[in-house]
Amino acid sequence: MCGLFARRKKQVYQIVCIGDPILREKAVEVKRFNENLHQLLDDMAETLYAADGVGLAAPQVGISKQVVVVDIGDEHGLIELINPKIIASEGVEEDVEGCLSVPGKSGIVKRAKKVTVAAQDRNGKSFTIKGEDLLARAFQHEIDHLKGVLYVDIMEREVEG
Ligand code: CO
Repeated sequence: MCGLFARRKKQVYQIVCIGDPILREKAVEVKRFNENLHQLLDDMAETLYAADGVGLAAPQVGISKQVVVVDIGDEHGLIELINPKIIASEGVEEDVEGCLSVPGKSGIVKRAKKVTVAAQDRNGKSFTIKGEDLLARAFQHEIDHLKGVLYVDIMEREVEG
């Protein structure tokens, strides 16, 4: 069929909630930087914005792969992290944190104030990115998801709201 350039419609995933065993698995390293990965990233971003979150990891949409999207609403815009690792961290900061997979709850979590993350982009190119405060927190929270760790495991205490 000629002229078939229909762009695939983006989809919003259903977010997996605490109690689902996939949230406890170690996510698998991405080796193929292909169209499937790009669709996953696009759909995860769509899901992140639909849920009004600041970060989302692939296990939260039922896919055990080392893929994260973050957008804290700053000048970075949408950040896509494939196979991310924290390679440096500095300082300690306590703040309130929540998770799309733990709806309606939040807790105080101690995190590094600044982190440097090494990751790959959607085409497999390696890069590093630094984050401070909320961005650093989002990186740490999402990378924890890839290890099967939820903030409730490491929080100091639960807080209202
Ligand atoms: Co979360």
